[in-house]
Formats: sequence, C-alpha cells, structure tokens
Amino acid sequence: MKSAKKETAPADNLLDGNRFVRACLRRPVDRTPVWFLRQAGRYMQEYRDVRKHHTLVEICRQPELAAEVTITAAEKLGVDAAIIFADLLLPLEPMGLPFEFQAGEGPVIHHPVRTAQDVAALRTDRADQLDYVARAIQKVATHFGGRLGIIGFCGAPYTLASYMIEAGGSRNYIHTKQLMYGDTTAWRRLLDKIIVVLTEYCRLQVEAGADVIQIFDSWVGSLSVADYRDYAFEASMRLVRAVQAMGVPVIYFGVETTGLLPIMSSTGADVIGLDWRQPLDEGWRAVGHACAVQGNLDPITLFAPLDVLEKRVKEILRAANGRPGHIFNLGHGIVPGTPVENVQAVVRMVHKFRLNDNAEAVHA
Ligand code: CP3
Repeated sequence: MKSAKKETAPADNLLDGNRFVRACLRRPVDRTPVWFLRQAGRYMQEYRDVRKHHTLVEICRQPELAAEVTITAAEKLGVDAAIIFADLLLPLEPMGLPFEFQAGEGPVIHHPVRTAQDVAALRTDRADQLDYVARAIQKVATHFGGRLGIIGFCGAPYTLASYMIEAGGSRNYIHTKQLMYGDTTAWRRLLDKIIVVLTEYCRLQVEAGADVIQIFDSWVGSLSVADYRDYAFEASMRLVRAVQAMGVPVIYFGVETTGLLPIMSSTGADVIGLDWRQPLDEGWRAVGHACAVQGNLDPITLFAPLDVLEKRVKEILRAANGRPGHIFNLGHGIVPGTPVENVQAVVRMVHKFRLNDNAEAVHA
C-alpha cells in the first residue's frame, strides 16, 4: 500500500518522489508538473493507428494495448504523469449494464436505469472483472519505474449515475433529476451501489501501482449548488475518503463548476481540477489554499498561434504565483484535430517557466 499522503519528511528533499505526486501533496517542486486530460486519443496519429485495428473497448480490455497507448502518449509529450488508458463507463458492464460506443454518437447504454427495480437489479460483486485495467497499470508502472506519476481514474457517483439513467450523454438530465427528486431512496441506493464498485475498482488500480486517483465528475455542472449539496456531495465525499484511505492523493475534477468549487473542495479531495472558464487564481481562492489545484487552459487554445498560446500558458502560471500545489493541465480534454506539436510546445513552456522571467520566449 502507498504511503504518499501520510509522509511528513522533516527535511523535504525536492527530489524525493516525482514532481507530479509532490505537487498533489502541495510539496515544493523544482518546476510545475504538467499533463493533459485525454492526452492519449484521436488527435494523436499513433492512437489512430491502433484504433484502425481495435475498438476502444478492445484497447481498454487488452492490458498490452492499453499500456502501449498510455506510454506512447506520455513519452511523446514529455509530460510528468501518465493517465491509464481506460474509460469512465467500464464499471457499468460488471454492474449488469452493457454499453457500446457508436461512431459519432458517443456511448449508448441499452437498458437504462429508471426505477427502484432497475437499481435493485444492479450487481456490486463483480468489480474484479475490471482487473484488466489493473494489469495495464502494472505494465505502465514497470515501464516508468517511478519516473512519472501514474494516474488511475474513475467517474464520480453522480456522473456515472447520470450515464446509467440517461443511457448516454444528455442535455437537460431530466431522467436523472426525476429519479433524484422523485425517488430519493432509489437514488441513494444507486449511489451506494456505485460507490461499492468504484471503491473496489480504485483499490485494484492502487494495488497495481497507481500513484494518484482522479475522479471525473464531468456532468456535475448540470447541478445547482443546492442539488449538489443534497444529492451528490455525500457520495463524492465518501468515495474521496475511501480512496484516500488506500494511501494515495485524490484529484476531483468537474466541468462548469465555478459555483460548485467551495463545496467540491469540502469533499476533502487533495486536488481540485479547475475547468477553463475561470481565472486560476479565482478558482484556487474558491477551493481554498489548503487544497492543490490542477488546470486550467482552454483546450481549444491549443489551436492558436504559439505566441497566443504562450501568453495564456504564462498567465495561468503567473496566477499560480509559485504557490506549491499547482499541476498544469487543460480545463477539459484535448479534442480531435489538436496539433500535437502545440501540446508538446506547452510542455516546454511550462517546464521552462520561471516566475519573474516574463520576457523570454520559450517556444523559440
Ligand atoms: O489519455 C486519456 O485521457 C484517455 C483515457 C480516457 C478515455 N476516456 C478514453 C476515450 C479517459 C480519461 C476517459 C474518461 C472519460 N470517458 C470521461 C471523462 C473525461 C471528460 O472528458 O470529462 C467521459 C465523460 C467518458 C465517456 C466517453 N468516452 C465519451 C462521452 C466518449 C465519446 C466522446 C468522443 O470523444 O467520441 C468516450 C470515448 C472515448 N474514451 C475516446 C477515448 C480516447 C474517444 C476515442 C475513440 O473512440 O477511440
């Protein structure tokens, strides 16, 4: 079991542990660590080549392939952390909800959860079927041997529940909110079941070598602060605490979270992932400086000329102001068509940045 979270080294050596994990724990680092949401994906030729021969789910289920995709992306970009190649929806299958990715439409779940009976039918005893993700993590951990941080991940209870209920993506989350408001007992049972499976799933990932777990609450921005407080907060907090008890830091990330940041931070997550809509310093103030932050470049800025890109990257780094506990990232995932060389340029910009070093053009 990892002991990263609880260590308090009296003489803190900057070179102890990797800089990504150190930043998650708000320890000083030699330079700001950087990685990217969706750093392995369709924008990268190497991924598209693998996808010619395999479906997304096949890649996830074959540890050799998932590890290869993870490692290739991290090495090509020169980032400080590798996120395991998997998908948010993988835990649905062992719970009894098969799904598929339909070209151009995203995920489709054939038998959505809509009633208390549907919730009762969900299984919580087969998380071990997700062992293929753990085996992929083991391969990645062996490959990097501690050089890079290794990130395992899962969906947050609210976001996973809303996928199960809506049968895919949604604009207004009407079915989700109908169950939440109309049968709160069934809603809470659903979240309880999801937490059981996700806790086991995260345990597999941590035991296999994940240094940090990121919890994606991608759809949380569909909730008001009051609804988050009454219907989602407790479940997220329980999952955060359960993972921290395994000895690893937790990054909790959502999208369109400006008003939700203070309450998301009170889950106790070590790091809050900020979306790109708010200046980083305002977001950090909202989560509190006792928490680390990750973010928060608009992913579409990666399509801009390098001088514009550099201006935005430096603004974010200046907003962090050298305070320990900043991990540079995007405010949401890289989209298909993003120029890989611009992503690599951002890594160089972040690694070369020094506060008070305003004039130097690092992309030259
Ligand atoms: O390097 C990485 O980050 C890749 C690993 C990864 C994937 N999915 C692979 C994937 C991660 C971290 C995810 C998380 C994920 N999956 C989220 C949360 C992140 C976020 O963006 O908020 C969500 C909401 C999902 C569910 C999901 N998976 C959707 C909605 C889609 C379809 C959207 C699309 O872009 O087509 C997927 C498919 C998916 N998962 C792809 C990848 C690389 C698309 C590429 C493909 O089909 O090969």
